[in-house]
Amino acid sequence: PVKVSKICCIGAGYVGGPTCAVIALKCPHITVTIVDLNQSRVDAWNSPDFALPIYEPGLVDVVRQARGRNLFFSTDVDKGIEEADLIFVSVNTPTKKSGVGAGFAADLNYVELATRRIATVANSSKIVVEKSTVPCRTAESMRTILEANSKPNCRFDILSNPEFLAEGTAITDLFKPDRVLIGSLETREGVEACQSLAEVYANWVPQDRILTVGLWSSELSKLAANAMLAQRISSINALSAICEATGANIDEVAHAIGYDSRIGPKFLKASVGFGGSCFQKDILNLVYLSESLHLPEVAAYWRQVVEMNEYQKRRFSKRVVDTLFNTITGKRIAVLGFAFKADTGDTRESAAITLIKDFQSERAFVNIYDPQVEEEQIWNDLSEASPLIPIESIKKQVTICHSAIEACKNAEAVVIATEWKEFLEIDWEEVYKGMNKPAFVFDGRLLVDAEKLTKIGFKVTTIGRPSAVAA
Ligand code: NAD
Ligand code: UDX
Repeated sequence: PVKVSKICCIGAGYVGGPTCAVIALKCPHITVTIVDLNQSRVDAWNSPDFALPIYEPGLVDVVRQARGRNLFFSTDVDKGIEEADLIFVSVNTPTKKSGVGAGFAADLNYVELATRRIATVANSSKIVVEKSTVPCRTAESMRTILEANSKPNCRFDILSNPEFLAEGTAITDLFKPDRVLIGSLETREGVEACQSLAEVYANWVPQDRILTVGLWSSELSKLAANAMLAQRISSINALSAICEATGANIDEVAHAIGYDSRIGPKFLKASVGFGGSCFQKDILNLVYLSESLHLPEVAAYWRQVVEMNEYQKRRFSKRVVDTLFNTITGKRIAVLGFAFKADTGDTRESAAITLIKDFQSERAFVNIYDPQVEEEQIWNDLSEASPLIPIESIKKQVTICHSAIEACKNAEAVVIATEWKEFLEIDWEEVYKGMNKPAFVFDGRLLVDAEKLTKIGFKVTTIGRPSAVAA
């Protein structure tokens, strides 16, 4: 097998950046160059004061140690490709917005463009690794493109190596992965390429955690893992609706069922709905795949996971309106948290966006505070969510605040949309004093101590618990 000494990663995003920075840190003998077409993103990765383009705990330390030593960020995609023996393709694969499969299928345009670039530029043999999440059998299309365009004496071996990191814990996930999955063809060359990549990971990942499987299994396992994780959340959220109606407590139910070692305690936190760039996109992709394979029952089964998530968000907004005496028109609502989960500045598919849009259409005023999300990002997301409303009108209804206390001032209700730890440490007595009465708190993340807040005077509504009035 080829001994890898130069790696290029195409795509300096949430996956390519942290993943390849950790490879560089753990493999000082390998030169890692991360390339991207987006100049400002590359500039941020290279910024002298380490103002990196993404917020991820521990990432700055990793980049600080490796950057300039054996880790480089550049917009020179061609040079990166030419010099490398192994190339990760870690570009975005969003849901298609138009054309065949719109709303479901993955948009593979970026993967194809990157692949074509590799074919055009490469003057020597390369191992090409699919890092992006892609539909099953994409590797075959990549191989066809590469082989049809390659120069004589250039061989391309394609591997699938999906990424399982979660945002907010990316660095610990990469340092100690549950498993690294590598898929290859079962030919001699395929198996050798697989060994080359496995050797890279073996610098810090124990052998028994490096799993090697067939290419198609590897591609499908990534979609399957995300679908099953999201399904757990939709299941617990479906149960949270039953809890609210019956007086059962979703935390107690989750605790009780999680004790069953076959079920396990993780990923059973009821919430206002899952967000993030992956779950919905990957399930819709699986739905599309199932439909293309003429498996409508399978497609319907997975689609329901996304529908339950939409229902959960709608149900939560409705509960806010119902509780505030059936109208929030002209009332001020403080939304704490805008990111799709804690410890990230990422807002893609964040439940907060849907909630705020619902509050806007009820003609409420909304104050938003998030400790990490940039102001500009919030405006972008809100205008994208309501394309027909001019940004000036949105800005009349929505205010972005710089602290939780400021956001809650003169509000009728506080909605906790992201489980940021700092919301636990807020001076809730102070918040109470500044709010209109009765002062309501809606905990969409099972974060705060409802009893403590009730003692202060708040009327607290929690996901998966009956409303105070009904109790
Ligand atoms: P991202 O949008 O943050 O980053 C992708 C980057 O690729 C962008 O900076 C873009 O400019 C660049 N790019 C696109 N086409 C290019 C080209 N032809 N040449 C050079 N650069 C190009 O996306 P991400 O969140 O890092 O996701 C990347 C892939 O990883 C997706 O397929 C996603 O499904 C998958 N994934 C994401 C996560 C996650 O937590 N975000 C986890 C696992 C897997
Ligand atoms: C997910 C997968 O976990 C990861 O393996 C994959 O590589 C990418 O997609 P990510 O989206 O970054 O990672 O975060 P994750 O922790 O999975 O959370 C996704 C969403 O589910 C968040 O909105 C989170 O708040 C929500 N969630 C998670 C719950 O509502 N309840 C839970 O118990 C867990």
